Amino acid sequence: MRSDLVRTHIDRNRETEGLTTAYTSHRDQIMQLITSTAADLADGEDQKCSSIVLLGAGNCLDVDLAGVAELFQTIHLVDLDETAVQSVIKALPRQTGQFRVHAPADIAEPLLSLTSRDFRPEDDNREHCMQVLQALSSENGVADVPEADVVVSLCVLSQMVGSLSGLIGEDHPTFVNALKAVRMGHLRRMLSLLRPGGVAIFVSDIVSSDTAEQLTTATPEQLPEIVRTLVADRNFFSGTNPSVVLSELNVLSRLATGPDTVHTIDPWTWNLGDRTYAVYAFRIQKKTPETVAPAADDTAE
Ligand SMILES: C[S@@+](CC[C@H](N)C(=O)[O-])C[C@H]1O[C@@H](n2cnc3c(N)ncnc32)[C@H](O)[C@@H]1O
Repeated sequence: MRSDLVRTHIDRNRETEGLTTAYTSHRDQIMQLITSTAADLADGEDQKCSSIVLLGAGNCLDVDLAGVAELFQTIHLVDLDETAVQSVIKALPRQTGQFRVHAPADIAEPLLSLTSRDFRPEDDNREHCMQVLQALSSENGVADVPEADVVVSLCVLSQMVGSLSGLIGEDHPTFVNALKAVRMGHLRRMLSLLRPGGVAIFVSDIVSSDTAEQLTTATPEQLPEIVRTLVADRNFFSGTNPSVVLSELNVLSRLATGPDTVHTIDPWTWNLGDRTYAVYAFRIQKKTPETVAPAADDTAE
């Protein structure tokens, strides 16, 4: 991985590591989603689910790790920032041996190892550029993480798109296709990390009060309409439009290993010092062999 691309994220993690209190309401929202999902998937009362994967675990401020450890036997933490993840585990009051660290790892592999030359669309590089986009959109990432009951993506899409912007800039002729490849790769990777019937919780920040001041005073009741209007006005972080993510999940639902159901979770606000974010989520349940429709029988009688 390129140290300059990785450094941006590590520096941001160091800046935010002390903000436990500021994350409280955001963490509560995510924990509610994780807790209800674990209850749905657990076999009977008092049963723990087998495993959960946290993508973009970082400082783990947006999850209550001790609470997660009550619900799952094994917790896989994936991030490019090994120091952040190891520090969080070391600081836990009880060392239960349930945590597996997958770091440093690039969830969008090979994104953080690329240079702008890889994206040149000119004739002499077209084939290579196509191969790079294919690799970004493939489901082959995070190789050493075994299939889990639950996979959570912790506001990592906007960060990956940020890395892409840093690499080539949003005006680059390949930017839009590369962004689509990264987003599709992320959705496919979440699904490929799930066991059949498992659930992916995709959480994404979408816009902040920097460009939408009304977020600072929005009530939970007002927020869905505010976010709809902001999206219609194209005021959102590149790549995070929920309608587009939803239509890509619909495309994936044609695959036997794709989503069976997708539930939209109402957005919430997350106040981080002088900035308020709007955040939304999808709860995506992967098909089981039983939910895969048999091939249509169109043979003549
Ligand atoms: C918005 S933060 C999520 C917050 C984090 N869970 C926390 O509570 O500190 C995104 C996290 O994703 C990580 N990240 C960004 N791009 C990544 C990539 N391509 N591969 C792996 N991790 C990445 C960052 O290091 C950061 O920890």
